[in-house]
Amino acid sequence: MCGIVGYTGKRKAVFILLEALERLEYRGYDSSGVALLEDGRIFVDKKVGKIRELIKSLWGKELNATTGIGHTRWATHGGVCELNAHPHTDGQGRFALVHNGIIENYRELKEYLLSRGVKYVSETDTEAIVHLISLNYEGDLLKAVLKVLPMLKGAYAFAVISSMEPNRIVGVRYGSPLVVGLGEGENFLASDIPALIPFTKKVIPLEDGEIADLTPDGVSIYDFEGNLKVKESITVHWDLLSAEKGGFKHFMLKEIFEQPRVVADTIKGYISRDYELPFSLKDFRRIVITACGTSYHAGLIGKYWLEKFVGIPVEVSYASELRYSDTPVGEGDLVIAISQSGETADTRFSALSAKEKGAVLLSIVNVMGSALSRESDYTLYTHAGPEIGVAATKTFTCQLAVLFSLAISEHPERENLINQLLKVPNLMEEVLSKAEGIKEVALNYSQKKNLLYLGRYLSYPVALEGALKLKEISYIHAEGYPAGEMKHGPIALIDQHMPVVVVAPKDRVYEKILSNIEEVLARKGIVISVGFEGDENLKKLSKDFIEIPQVVEELSPFLTVLPLQLFAYYIADYLGLDVDQPRNLAKTVTVE
Ligand code: AGP
Repeated sequence: MCGIVGYTGKRKAVFILLEALERLEYRGYDSSGVALLEDGRIFVDKKVGKIRELIKSLWGKELNATTGIGHTRWATHGGVCELNAHPHTDGQGRFALVHNGIIENYRELKEYLLSRGVKYVSETDTEAIVHLISLNYEGDLLKAVLKVLPMLKGAYAFAVISSMEPNRIVGVRYGSPLVVGLGEGENFLASDIPALIPFTKKVIPLEDGEIADLTPDGVSIYDFEGNLKVKESITVHWDLLSAEKGGFKHFMLKEIFEQPRVVADTIKGYISRDYELPFSLKDFRRIVITACGTSYHAGLIGKYWLEKFVGIPVEVSYASELRYSDTPVGEGDLVIAISQSGETADTRFSALSAKEKGAVLLSIVNVMGSALSRESDYTLYTHAGPEIGVAATKTFTCQLAVLFSLAISEHPERENLINQLLKVPNLMEEVLSKAEGIKEVALNYSQKKNLLYLGRYLSYPVALEGALKLKEISYIHAEGYPAGEMKHGPIALIDQHMPVVVVAPKDRVYEKILSNIEEVLARKGIVISVGFEGDENLKKLSKDFIEIPQVVEELSPFLTVLPLQLFAYYIADYLGLDVDQPRNLAKTVTVE
């Protein structure tokens, strides 16, 4: 899921492009590059690795261009090398193009281009687009792009410049995100909003099937037939600081410590009566939750709450599985799509196909103006602010805040439950104030190659989330498992070398989880437990006991997940890994 940017205006484009690319680096960091329009010529520079390699390469070069495009890559087609890095050109220096997405029919297009004598130099799908534009160019970049679009299959957002048309950028969105940023005498393009925050707060998120034609003096939006469209801009309320590290070593650590505040902000938006949903959850025969990764784990917790407080069946599906399964979803169903980015392809397309079959689509999203928020019947926003660390943390607990508020929205005990919920941010502060202690525990396990995470009931998805965090940022294999299931197989993994993280707040399954801990100890497993303060039983059974303040059973996930986030963070940081941009990952997964 690459990041693309564009700038045309009065200022030196190279500085704008590099700053914007740095803010998009969480979308992919295999290679990066820029193309600058100067004196009727296109200057291209691209480097493998982080953007700092590109900055080093451009350092000291006299680059006065005021129009350009840039790219940071997450490799899908073709290895990580300079030849496959973007921008791609037509080979005669007339056109340069950056792309995010996948052109599924690029092999046929490549055959066609080779048959037209085109020299195809890279292993990428993207290169096909710039050659097609070059072949169809008759003096107007927009017209050439309009001719090429019907030939492309797949998901894409791309930006293209031409040496024959200085100060002009054409950007296209179909499946992958693209946002226009509006300035005074200058205009911007980017894959998502954080890249634009330093330059403008006025943005136009493009919809699928839209083209933006940028010059310094204006932006025109067209559909794929070339018809002019009138679009409203929206004002982003995220400030620059929220996209800075604020003195923390990593964005992930900052975002972990932001949770009490952003969960309080999110709760605030949902405890007042004025967010009434124009329907009762009880109107539906069933709720189907679709999501990926951490958002899927939030969905699993949402299921327990919705079934408890609303009393209708809830199914939770991995979006990539629901998308192509024969699960009957449609009339009478409420589909809840959970996605921090609002752009995850698996989640979007599984939700859209359910909507097409007649289901009502409600999305829980963090990014304003994102595709899912525009495509859903209703959207509930988490107010987490921009999340820059690839590993989701604050958006997870904010998703929990929305799901819990939704689940209790019609419950007779709503007032009392809200009062319990309002205590959560302070209790989260208490847990985070013990971070140093959690760090000490975590470092004891930094050399381990495998860990097992166990939980029951609401703590089972928390165990899954803890394992995912460790895998994502420390590259240590970890598996989350329902504790009751362990004896049906994974218990075979346990010996005196296997650390087992057990999430064990005192809830309806507490006694059961204590027996599971006994089963682990019987095989000499190493128990690290997360439990309520003063729980001497659990403490006695554990090699390491991480205590959290008491809370009503329904709300324990808000607290039990925090030590697991920190546990993973401190191990990854100790191992000297790139915590904010772990290998092979990207913040927003816009291809299937
Ligand atoms: C979580 O830390 C990961 N970044 C990843 O699993 C993520 O949760 C998943 O890609 C879903 O992203 P979304 O919430 O933006 O849809």
